Amino acid sequence: MQGFVVFDYFHLYPNYLEMVLPLIKQGKLAYVEDIVEGIEAAPVALVGLFNKTKQNTQLKMEGNKQIVLKDYVKGLIKESDLILKTSEIKRDIPNGAFLVKNLYLSCDPYMRSRMVKMECSYIDSFTPGEVIEGYGVAKVVDSSNQKFKKGDLICGMTGWEEYSIIKSTETIFKIPSMDVPLSYYTGILGLAGLTAYVGFYEICSPKKGEIVFISAASGAVGQLVGQFAKLFGCYVVGSAGSQHKVDFLKNKLGFDDAFNYKEESDQNEAIKRYFPEGIDIYIENVGGKMLDAVIPNMRPSGRITACEMISQYDVEETDATHNLMSAIIKKIRMQGFVVFDYFNLYPNYLEMVLPLIKQGKLAYVEDIVEGLEAAPAALVGLFSGRNVGKQVVLVARD
Ligand SMILES: NC(=O)c1ccc[n+]([C@@H]2O[C@H](COP(=O)([O-])OP(=O)(O)OC[C@H]3O[C@@H](n4cnc5c(N)ncnc54)[C@H](OP(=O)(O)O)[C@@H]3O)[C@@H](O)[C@H]2O)c1
Repeated sequence: MQGFVVFDYFHLYPNYLEMVLPLIKQGKLAYVEDIVEGIEAAPVALVGLFNKTKQNTQLKMEGNKQIVLKDYVKGLIKESDLILKTSEIKRDIPNGAFLVKNLYLSCDPYMRSRMVKMECSYIDSFTPGEVIEGYGVAKVVDSSNQKFKKGDLICGMTGWEEYSIIKSTETIFKIPSMDVPLSYYTGILGLAGLTAYVGFYEICSPKKGEIVFISAASGAVGQLVGQFAKLFGCYVVGSAGSQHKVDFLKNKLGFDDAFNYKEESDQNEAIKRYFPEGIDIYIENVGGKMLDAVIPNMRPSGRITACEMISQYDVEETDATHNLMSAIIKKIRMQGFVVFDYFNLYPNYLEMVLPLIKQGKLAYVEDIVEGLEAAPAALVGLFSGRNVGKQVVLVARD
Protein backbone atom coordinates (compact mmCIF):
# COMPACT_ATOMS: atom_id res chain seq x y z
CA MET A 1 0.00 0.00 0.00
CA GLN A 2 1.40 3.39 -0.93
CA GLY A 3 -0.13 6.74 -0.20
CA PHE A 4 0.69 9.70 -2.40
CA VAL A 5 -0.20 13.32 -2.96
CA VAL A 6 -0.47 14.47 -6.54
CA PHE A 7 1.21 17.78 -5.76
CA ASP A 8 4.49 15.87 -5.34
CA TYR A 9 4.32 14.58 -8.92
CA PHE A 10 4.07 17.72 -11.02
CA HIS A 11 7.39 16.83 -12.66
CA LEU A 12 5.52 13.94 -14.41
CA TYR A 13 2.92 16.25 -15.95
CA PRO A 14 4.73 16.51 -19.37
CA ASN A 15 4.97 12.68 -19.55
CA TYR A 16 1.28 12.41 -18.72
CA LEU A 17 0.33 14.91 -21.43
CA GLU A 18 2.46 13.05 -23.95
CA MET A 19 0.51 9.87 -23.22
CA VAL A 20 -3.00 11.28 -22.84
CA LEU A 21 -3.32 13.88 -25.60
CA PRO A 22 -3.10 11.31 -28.45
CA LEU A 23 -5.68 9.12 -26.67
CA ILE A 24 -8.10 12.07 -26.47
CA LYS A 25 -7.52 13.01 -30.10
CA GLN A 26 -8.11 9.42 -31.25
CA GLY A 27 -11.37 9.34 -29.29
CA LYS A 28 -10.12 6.46 -27.15
CA LEU A 29 -11.05 8.04 -23.83
CA ALA A 30 -14.51 8.98 -22.60
CA TYR A 31 -14.51 11.95 -20.22
CA VAL A 32 -17.55 13.44 -18.58
CA GLU A 33 -17.69 16.93 -17.12
CA ASP A 34 -20.41 18.60 -15.10
CA ILE A 35 -19.98 22.34 -15.64
CA VAL A 36 -21.93 24.96 -13.75
CA GLU A 37 -21.80 28.51 -14.96
CA GLY A 38 -20.98 31.63 -12.92
CA ILE A 39 -19.01 32.13 -9.73
CA GLU A 40 -22.35 32.32 -7.91
CA ALA A 41 -22.90 28.65 -8.67
CA ALA A 42 -19.54 27.60 -7.26
CA PRO A 43 -20.54 27.03 -3.60
CA VAL A 44 -23.39 24.69 -4.58
CA ALA A 45 -21.13 22.85 -7.01
CA LEU A 46 -18.44 22.34 -4.36
CA VAL A 47 -20.91 21.28 -1.68
CA GLY A 48 -22.56 18.95 -4.21
CA LEU A 49 -19.39 16.85 -4.29
CA PHE A 50 -20.16 15.78 -0.77
CA ASN A 51 -23.91 15.40 -0.72
CA LYS A 52 -24.40 13.50 -3.97
CA THR A 53 -26.63 16.20 -5.48
CA LYS A 54 -24.11 16.56 -8.29
CA GLN A 55 -25.59 15.51 -11.61
CA ASN A 56 -23.42 15.09 -14.62
CA THR A 57 -24.80 15.79 -18.06
CA GLN A 58 -23.94 12.27 -19.22
CA LEU A 59 -22.92 13.49 -22.63
CA LYS A 60 -20.70 11.17 -24.59
CA MET A 61 -17.36 12.87 -24.82
CA GLU A 62 -15.80 10.80 -27.56
CA GLY A 63 -17.63 12.89 -30.16
CA ASN A 64 -20.82 13.17 -32.13
CA LYS A 65 -21.31 10.58 -34.87
CA GLN A 66 -23.06 12.14 -37.84
CA ILE A 67 -24.40 11.15 -41.27
CA VAL A 68 -23.29 13.66 -43.87
CA LEU A 69 -24.34 14.02 -47.52
CA LYS A 70 -21.28 13.48 -49.70
CA ASP A 71 -22.58 15.35 -52.72
CA TYR A 72 -25.82 15.90 -54.62
CA VAL A 73 -27.10 12.52 -55.77
CA LYS A 74 -27.67 11.59 -59.42
CA GLY A 75 -29.46 8.39 -60.42
CA LEU A 76 -29.88 5.52 -58.03
CA ILE A 77 -29.04 6.46 -54.44
CA LYS A 78 -26.16 4.42 -52.94
CA GLU A 79 -24.90 3.94 -49.39
CA SER A 80 -21.68 5.70 -50.39
CA ASP A 81 -23.65 8.91 -51.02
CA LEU A 82 -23.83 9.21 -47.23
CA ILE A 83 -20.74 9.38 -45.03
CA LEU A 84 -20.36 8.62 -41.33
CA LYS A 85 -18.12 11.13 -39.58
CA THR A 86 -17.41 12.17 -36.00
CA SER A 87 -17.38 15.79 -34.83
CA GLU A 88 -17.37 17.55 -31.51
CA ILE A 89 -20.69 17.98 -29.75
CA LYS A 90 -21.66 21.64 -29.98
CA ARG A 91 -22.28 23.02 -26.53
CA ASP A 92 -23.04 26.67 -27.29
CA ILE A 93 -26.80 26.65 -27.16
CA PRO A 94 -28.28 29.86 -28.57
CA ASN A 95 -31.12 31.49 -26.69
CA GLY A 96 -34.37 29.64 -27.43
CA ALA A 97 -32.57 26.51 -28.64
CA PHE A 98 -31.86 23.20 -26.93
CA LEU A 99 -29.50 20.27 -27.19
CA VAL A 100 -30.98 16.80 -27.74
CA LYS A 101 -29.69 13.27 -27.71
CA ASN A 102 -31.27 11.51 -30.70
CA LEU A 103 -32.88 8.16 -29.88
CA TYR A 104 -34.76 7.04 -33.02
CA LEU A 105 -34.58 8.36 -36.58
CA SER A 106 -37.21 7.87 -39.25
CA CYS A 107 -36.17 6.82 -42.78
CA ASP A 108 -38.47 8.62 -45.23
CA PRO A 109 -38.49 8.45 -49.04
CA TYR A 110 -38.88 12.27 -49.38
CA MET A 111 -35.34 12.61 -47.98
CA ARG A 112 -34.09 11.47 -51.40
CA SER A 113 -35.65 14.54 -53.00
CA ARG A 114 -33.58 16.74 -50.65
CA MET A 115 -30.40 15.20 -52.05
CA VAL A 116 -30.65 17.12 -55.29
CA LYS A 117 -30.32 20.86 -55.73
CA MET A 118 -33.86 22.18 -55.91
CA GLU A 119 -34.72 25.70 -56.95
CA CYS A 120 -38.15 25.71 -55.43
CA SER A 121 -39.70 23.10 -53.19
CA TYR A 122 -41.67 22.88 -49.98
CA ILE A 123 -38.42 22.00 -48.20
CA ASP A 124 -34.74 22.93 -48.61
CA SER A 125 -32.16 20.70 -50.24
CA PHE A 126 -29.55 19.14 -47.98
CA THR A 127 -26.13 20.75 -48.19
CA PRO A 128 -23.24 18.53 -49.35
CA GLY A 129 -20.72 18.10 -46.53
CA GLU A 130 -23.32 18.76 -43.84
CA VAL A 131 -25.39 16.55 -41.59
CA ILE A 132 -28.69 15.52 -43.15
CA GLU A 133 -31.88 15.97 -41.17
CA GLY A 134 -35.05 14.00 -40.72
CA TYR A 135 -37.89 13.24 -38.36
CA GLY A 136 -36.93 11.61 -35.09
CA VAL A 137 -37.41 11.04 -31.40
CA ALA A 138 -34.96 12.65 -29.00
CA LYS A 139 -34.32 13.54 -25.38
CA VAL A 140 -33.51 17.09 -24.27
CA VAL A 141 -30.14 17.12 -22.48
CA ASP A 142 -29.59 20.86 -22.10
CA SER A 143 -31.85 23.78 -22.89
CA SER A 144 -32.10 27.56 -23.21
CA ASN A 145 -35.77 27.28 -24.10
CA GLN A 146 -38.32 27.51 -21.32
CA LYS A 147 -40.80 25.23 -23.10
CA PHE A 148 -38.36 22.33 -23.54
CA LYS A 149 -36.62 21.24 -20.37
CA LYS A 150 -33.81 18.80 -19.69
CA GLY A 151 -35.27 15.28 -19.65
CA ASP A 152 -38.22 16.09 -21.98
CA LEU A 153 -38.82 13.60 -24.79
CA ILE A 154 -39.65 15.21 -28.11
CA CYS A 155 -40.42 14.24 -31.69
CA GLY A 156 -39.85 16.35 -34.77
CA MET A 157 -37.15 17.43 -37.22
CA THR A 158 -33.66 16.72 -35.95
CA GLY A 159 -30.19 15.88 -37.31
CA TRP A 160 -28.99 12.44 -38.40
CA GLU A 161 -26.40 12.45 -35.62
CA GLU A 162 -26.11 11.47 -31.98
CA TYR A 163 -26.58 14.99 -30.58
CA SER A 164 -28.30 17.93 -32.27
CA ILE A 165 -29.03 21.51 -31.38
CA ILE A 166 -32.66 22.27 -32.19
CA LYS A 167 -33.17 25.92 -33.05
CA SER A 168 -36.52 25.87 -34.80
CA THR A 169 -39.36 24.41 -32.76
CA GLU A 170 -42.12 24.66 -35.39
CA THR A 171 -42.14 20.92 -36.01
CA ILE A 172 -41.26 19.86 -32.47
CA PHE A 173 -43.81 18.21 -30.18
CA LYS A 174 -43.36 17.02 -26.63
CA ILE A 175 -44.10 13.31 -26.44
CA PRO A 176 -47.38 13.12 -24.58
CA SER A 177 -47.80 9.45 -23.84
CA MET A 178 -45.22 6.94 -22.71
CA ASP A 179 -47.47 3.91 -22.77
CA VAL A 180 -46.59 3.12 -26.39
CA PRO A 181 -43.07 2.33 -27.67
CA LEU A 182 -41.03 5.51 -28.20
CA SER A 183 -40.13 4.44 -31.74
CA TYR A 184 -43.82 4.78 -32.69
CA TYR A 185 -43.31 8.55 -32.70
CA THR A 186 -41.17 8.16 -35.86
CA GLY A 187 -44.01 6.46 -37.74
CA ILE A 188 -47.50 5.66 -36.63
CA LEU A 189 -47.38 8.64 -34.26
CA GLY A 190 -45.14 10.68 -36.58
CA LEU A 191 -45.09 11.77 -40.24
CA ALA A 192 -46.27 8.43 -41.67
CA GLY A 193 -49.31 8.27 -39.39
CA LEU A 194 -50.30 11.87 -39.99
CA THR A 195 -49.81 11.35 -43.75
CA ALA A 196 -52.08 8.30 -43.70
CA TYR A 197 -54.70 10.22 -41.70
CA VAL A 198 -54.65 13.34 -43.88
CA GLY A 199 -54.36 11.39 -47.13
CA PHE A 200 -57.36 9.20 -46.38
CA TYR A 201 -59.79 11.24 -44.29
CA GLU A 202 -59.00 14.85 -45.26
CA ILE A 203 -58.13 14.54 -48.93
CA CYS A 204 -60.29 11.60 -50.00
CA SER A 205 -63.44 12.17 -47.88
CA PRO A 206 -64.18 8.41 -47.85
CA LYS A 207 -67.60 6.81 -47.76
CA LYS A 208 -68.39 3.45 -46.23
CA GLY A 209 -68.25 0.60 -48.75
CA GLU A 210 -65.96 2.41 -51.19
CA ILE A 211 -63.19 0.57 -53.03
CA VAL A 212 -59.68 1.65 -52.03
CA PHE A 213 -56.37 0.89 -53.72
CA ILE A 214 -53.01 1.57 -52.03
CA SER A 215 -49.60 1.27 -53.71
CA ALA A 216 -46.44 0.62 -51.62
CA ALA A 217 -49.05 -0.79 -49.27
CA SER A 218 -46.79 -2.63 -46.84
CA GLY A 219 -44.72 0.45 -45.97
CA ALA A 220 -45.13 2.93 -43.17
CA VAL A 221 -47.96 4.96 -44.73
CA GLY A 222 -49.54 2.12 -46.70
CA GLN A 223 -50.06 -0.28 -43.81
CA LEU A 224 -51.82 2.44 -41.82
CA VAL A 225 -54.04 3.81 -44.60
CA GLY A 226 -55.12 0.27 -45.38
CA GLN A 227 -56.16 -0.40 -41.80
CA PHE A 228 -57.88 2.98 -41.42
CA ALA A 229 -59.84 2.21 -44.58
CA LYS A 230 -60.78 -1.27 -43.33
CA LEU A 231 -61.91 0.08 -39.95
CA PHE A 232 -63.95 2.69 -41.84
CA GLY A 233 -65.75 -0.03 -43.78
CA CYS A 234 -64.06 0.12 -47.19
CA TYR A 235 -62.92 -2.70 -49.48
CA VAL A 236 -59.12 -2.48 -49.55
CA VAL A 237 -56.52 -3.85 -51.97
CA GLY A 238 -52.78 -3.13 -51.83
CA SER A 239 -49.82 -3.63 -54.13
CA ALA A 240 -46.33 -4.47 -52.87
CA GLY A 241 -43.03 -5.74 -54.21
CA SER A 242 -42.77 -9.32 -52.92
CA GLN A 243 -44.90 -12.36 -52.09
CA HIS A 244 -43.85 -12.02 -48.45
CA LYS A 245 -45.28 -8.48 -48.37
CA VAL A 246 -48.47 -9.61 -50.14
CA ASP A 247 -49.01 -12.31 -47.49
CA PHE A 248 -48.31 -9.76 -44.78
CA LEU A 249 -50.97 -7.41 -46.17
CA LYS A 250 -53.61 -10.12 -46.41
CA ASN A 251 -52.85 -12.17 -43.32
CA LYS A 252 -51.51 -9.69 -40.79
CA LEU A 253 -53.09 -6.37 -41.79
CA GLY A 254 -56.45 -7.70 -42.94
CA PHE A 255 -56.44 -6.26 -46.48
CA ASP A 256 -59.18 -7.80 -48.63
CA ASP A 257 -56.65 -8.55 -51.35
CA ALA A 258 -53.12 -7.72 -52.47
CA PHE A 259 -50.78 -8.35 -55.41
CA ASN A 260 -47.09 -8.27 -56.24
CA TYR A 261 -46.75 -5.53 -58.87
CA LYS A 262 -43.27 -6.81 -59.79
CA GLU A 263 -44.76 -10.03 -61.10
CA GLU A 264 -47.27 -8.26 -63.33
CA SER A 265 -46.04 -7.57 -66.85
CA ASP A 266 -48.99 -5.24 -67.49
CA GLN A 267 -50.13 -3.09 -64.54
CA ASN A 268 -53.32 -2.12 -66.37
CA GLU A 269 -54.26 -5.80 -66.67
CA ALA A 270 -53.53 -6.34 -62.98
CA ILE A 271 -55.66 -3.37 -61.91
CA LYS A 272 -58.57 -4.56 -64.08
CA ARG A 273 -58.29 -8.03 -62.53
CA TYR A 274 -58.27 -6.82 -58.92
CA PHE A 275 -60.82 -4.03 -59.46
CA PRO A 276 -63.47 -5.29 -61.91
CA GLU A 277 -65.81 -2.57 -60.63
CA GLY A 278 -63.17 0.18 -60.59
CA ILE A 279 -61.52 2.19 -57.81
CA ASP A 280 -63.10 4.96 -55.72
CA ILE A 281 -59.99 6.00 -53.79
CA TYR A 282 -56.37 5.59 -54.81
CA ILE A 283 -53.62 6.32 -52.27
CA GLU A 284 -50.79 7.07 -54.67
CA ASN A 285 -47.32 6.40 -53.29
CA VAL A 286 -45.33 5.32 -56.33
CA GLY A 287 -46.33 7.24 -59.49
CA GLY A 288 -45.11 6.22 -62.96
CA LYS A 289 -46.68 3.20 -64.66
CA MET A 290 -48.93 2.39 -61.71
CA LEU A 291 -50.56 5.83 -61.73
CA ASP A 292 -51.00 5.60 -65.49
CA ALA A 293 -52.75 2.24 -65.09
CA VAL A 294 -54.99 3.43 -62.25
CA ILE A 295 -56.46 6.59 -63.80
CA PRO A 296 -58.60 4.88 -66.50
CA ASN A 297 -59.76 2.34 -63.89
CA MET A 298 -61.10 4.96 -61.49
CA ARG A 299 -64.85 5.11 -60.92
CA PRO A 300 -66.79 8.33 -61.55
CA SER A 301 -66.00 11.01 -58.92
CA GLY A 302 -63.03 8.97 -57.74
CA ARG A 303 -60.36 10.62 -55.59
CA ILE A 304 -56.62 10.21 -55.77
CA THR A 305 -54.34 11.31 -52.94
CA ALA A 306 -50.94 12.00 -54.47
CA CYS A 307 -48.66 11.23 -51.53
CA GLU A 308 -45.48 10.73 -53.51
CA MET A 309 -43.93 9.15 -56.58
CA ILE A 310 -41.08 7.04 -55.26
CA SER A 311 -40.56 5.38 -58.66
CA GLN A 312 -39.64 8.74 -60.18
CA TYR A 313 -36.79 9.95 -57.95
CA ASP A 314 -33.94 8.12 -59.60
CA VAL A 315 -34.95 8.28 -63.26
CA GLU A 316 -33.41 10.75 -65.69
CA GLU A 317 -36.67 11.22 -67.54
CA THR A 318 -39.88 10.92 -65.55
CA ASP A 319 -42.69 8.68 -66.89
CA ALA A 320 -45.46 10.35 -68.84
CA THR A 321 -49.12 9.93 -67.85
CA HIS A 322 -51.14 8.97 -70.91
CA ASN A 323 -54.66 8.54 -69.58
CA LEU A 324 -55.63 11.95 -68.20
CA MET A 325 -58.68 12.24 -70.47
CA SER A 326 -60.40 9.75 -68.12
CA ALA A 327 -59.96 12.26 -65.31
CA ILE A 328 -62.18 14.72 -67.17
CA ILE A 329 -64.80 12.27 -68.30
CA LYS A 330 -65.12 10.63 -64.88
CA LYS A 331 -64.66 13.89 -62.92
CA ILE A 332 -61.80 12.46 -60.93
CA ARG A 333 -60.09 14.62 -58.33
CA MET A 334 -56.36 14.16 -57.76
CA GLN A 335 -54.81 16.17 -54.97
CA GLY A 336 -51.19 16.38 -53.93
CA PHE A 337 -50.34 17.37 -50.39
CA VAL A 338 -47.41 17.79 -48.05
CA VAL A 339 -47.84 16.57 -44.51
CA PHE A 340 -45.86 19.50 -43.09
CA ASP A 341 -48.87 21.73 -43.91
CA TYR A 342 -51.09 19.64 -41.65
CA PHE A 343 -49.31 19.71 -38.29
CA ASN A 344 -52.35 21.53 -36.88
CA LEU A 345 -54.23 18.22 -37.24
CA TYR A 346 -51.69 16.26 -35.22
CA PRO A 347 -53.65 16.53 -31.93
CA ASN A 348 -56.83 15.31 -33.70
CA TYR A 349 -54.89 12.44 -35.20
CA LEU A 350 -53.46 11.43 -31.81
CA GLU A 351 -56.93 11.56 -30.33
CA MET A 352 -58.11 9.09 -32.97
CA VAL A 353 -55.12 6.77 -33.17
CA LEU A 354 -53.94 6.37 -29.55
CA PRO A 355 -57.11 4.57 -28.42
CA LEU A 356 -56.94 2.31 -31.51
CA ILE A 357 -53.36 1.34 -30.64
CA LYS A 358 -54.19 0.78 -26.98
CA GLN A 359 -57.23 -1.35 -27.84
CA GLY A 360 -55.04 -3.48 -30.15
CA LYS A 361 -57.15 -2.53 -33.17
CA LEU A 362 -54.18 -1.57 -35.32
CA ALA A 363 -51.25 -3.76 -36.29
CA TYR A 364 -48.08 -1.77 -36.79
CA VAL A 365 -44.88 -3.29 -38.07
CA GLU A 366 -41.48 -1.64 -37.74
CA ASP A 367 -38.20 -2.58 -39.37
CA ILE A 368 -35.61 -1.31 -36.87
CA VAL A 369 -31.86 -1.28 -37.51
CA GLU A 370 -29.47 -0.49 -34.70
CA GLY A 371 -26.73 2.16 -34.70
CA LEU A 372 -26.13 5.28 -36.77
CA GLU A 373 -23.64 3.24 -38.83
CA ALA A 374 -26.59 1.22 -40.20
CA ALA A 375 -28.59 4.33 -41.16
CA PRO A 376 -27.35 4.87 -44.76
CA ALA A 377 -28.18 1.27 -45.78
CA ALA A 378 -31.57 1.52 -44.10
CA LEU A 379 -32.45 4.71 -45.97
CA VAL A 380 -31.17 3.41 -49.31
CA GLY A 381 -33.12 0.16 -48.77
CA LEU A 382 -36.44 2.06 -49.08
CA PHE A 383 -35.78 2.47 -52.79
CA SER A 384 -35.38 -1.23 -53.46
CA GLY A 385 -38.18 -2.27 -51.09
CA ARG A 386 -35.82 -3.95 -48.60
CA ASN A 387 -37.89 -2.68 -45.66
CA VAL A 388 -40.93 -4.50 -44.40
CA GLY A 389 -42.97 -1.94 -42.50
CA LYS A 390 -41.75 1.34 -41.08
CA GLN A 391 -37.98 1.74 -41.43
CA VAL A 392 -36.44 3.12 -38.24
CA VAL A 393 -32.88 3.64 -36.99
CA LEU A 394 -32.29 3.10 -33.28
CA VAL A 395 -29.50 5.51 -32.33
CA ALA A 396 -29.69 5.17 -28.54
CA ARG A 397 -32.18 3.62 -26.13
CA ASP A 398 -32.17 6.52 -23.66
N1 LIG B 1 -46.95 13.85 -49.15
C1 LIG B 1 -46.39 13.73 -47.97
O1 LIG B 1 -46.35 14.67 -47.18
C2 LIG B 1 -45.77 12.42 -47.58
C3 LIG B 1 -45.41 12.17 -46.25
C4 LIG B 1 -44.86 10.92 -45.91
C5 LIG B 1 -44.67 9.98 -46.91
N2 LIG B 1 -45.02 10.28 -48.19
C6 LIG B 1 -44.81 9.32 -49.26
O2 LIG B 1 -45.55 8.17 -49.03
C7 LIG B 1 -44.89 7.06 -49.65
C8 LIG B 1 -44.72 5.96 -48.66
O3 LIG B 1 -43.80 6.40 -47.69
P1 LIG B 1 -43.37 5.44 -46.53
O4 LIG B 1 -42.64 6.24 -45.52
O5 LIG B 1 -44.55 4.68 -46.14
O6 LIG B 1 -42.30 4.51 -47.28
P2 LIG B 1 -42.34 2.95 -47.30
O7 LIG B 1 -43.56 2.54 -48.07
O8 LIG B 1 -42.17 2.42 -45.94
O9 LIG B 1 -41.03 2.57 -48.13
C9 LIG B 1 -40.99 2.81 -49.49
C10 LIG B 1 -41.54 1.60 -50.29
O10 LIG B 1 -41.77 2.02 -51.61
C11 LIG B 1 -41.67 0.91 -52.47
N3 LIG B 1 -40.87 1.28 -53.65
C12 LIG B 1 -39.57 1.63 -53.69
N4 LIG B 1 -39.21 1.91 -54.96
C13 LIG B 1 -40.31 1.70 -55.73
C14 LIG B 1 -40.57 1.80 -57.14
N5 LIG B 1 -39.62 2.19 -58.00
N6 LIG B 1 -41.80 1.52 -57.57
C15 LIG B 1 -42.78 1.12 -56.73
N7 LIG B 1 -42.59 1.00 -55.39
C16 LIG B 1 -41.37 1.29 -54.90
C17 LIG B 1 -40.96 -0.21 -51.69
O11 LIG B 1 -41.95 -1.20 -51.38
P3 LIG B 1 -42.24 -2.43 -52.39
O12 LIG B 1 -41.43 -3.59 -51.92
O13 LIG B 1 -43.71 -2.62 -52.23
O14 LIG B 1 -41.84 -1.98 -53.77
C18 LIG B 1 -40.53 0.47 -50.40
O15 LIG B 1 -40.55 -0.40 -49.31
C19 LIG B 1 -43.57 7.56 -50.17
O16 LIG B 1 -43.65 7.76 -51.54
C20 LIG B 1 -43.38 8.84 -49.39
O17 LIG B 1 -42.53 9.75 -50.02
C21 LIG B 1 -45.57 11.47 -48.53
